[in-house]
Amino acid sequence: MPRIALVDLAQHWLCPKLKAGDAVIDATVGNGFDTLFLAKCVAPGGQVFGFDIQAQALENAKAKIPGDLVASLYWRQNCHSAMSEHLPVSLHGRIKAVMFNLGYLPGADKTIITRPCSTLSALKQAVELISLNGAITVVAYPGHAGGGNECATVAEFCRNLNPLQFRLAIIDSISATPTAPKLFQIEKIA
Ligand SMILES: C[S@@+](CC[C@H](N)C(=O)[O-])C[C@H]1O[C@@H](n2cnc3c(N)ncnc32)[C@H](O)[C@@H]1O
Repeated sequence: MPRIALVDLAQHWLCPKLKAGDAVIDATVGNGFDTLFLAKCVAPGGQVFGFDIQAQALENAKAKIPGDLVASLYWRQNCHSAMSEHLPVSLHGRIKAVMFNLGYLPGADKTIITRPCSTLSALKQAVELISLNGAITVVAYPGHAGGGNECATVAEFCRNLNPLQFRLAIIDSISATPTAPKLFQIEKIA
C-alpha cells in the first residue's frame, strides 16, 4: 500500500468538504502548496486568506498561483494570531476550512518557526471562525527544537474541545516515533 504524507492526507480529507465560492484560510502559507490546493478547491468565486510572517514565503507562494486563481487570494504578511481582525466580519462563522502546517519555511531560516503561544491563539480563533461542518487541519512537527512543546499544546487544545460540538481525529505518521509529525483533524459538528 502506498504511504501518504500527512500534508497530503490533510488536503485529501478537506477536498470533499470544499466547493466553489467557499471562503478558507491558509494559516501558514510557506511555499504555497496548501494555498494553491485551497484556491483550486474554492474556484471559481471563492476566497483564500493566506497568512505568513515571512515576505519570502508569500513571494514563493504567489509564484505558484496561476493567473486565473490570483483574484481569489488575499495575502496577509501577519501572524496567524491576528487572523480574526484581518478577516471581514461578514465571514466570521462562515469559513469552511483553516489549514495549519506548523514549523519553519523549508529551504529558509529554520529559526523562524511557529510558536505554541501564537499557534494556540490562532486555533482558538479558527474554531470560532469556521462554520457548521467547517474543518481545521494542523500538521505538527515534534522533531525540531520547540516542536514537541508546540505539538503537545495543539494536542491539549484539541482534547479540550467540546466533543458535542467538535469531532476530532489525531493521526500519527506511519513510523509513530515520538518525533514523527502528527495530523490533527477538527470538524465542527454542532
Ligand atoms: C511548514 S511551513 C508551511 C508550509 C506550507 N503550508 C506549504 O504548503 O508550503 C510553516 C510556515 O509558517 C510560517 N510561520 C511561522 N510563524 C508564523 C505565524 N506566527 N503566523 C503565520 N505564519 C507563521 C513560517 O514562516 C513558514 O513559512
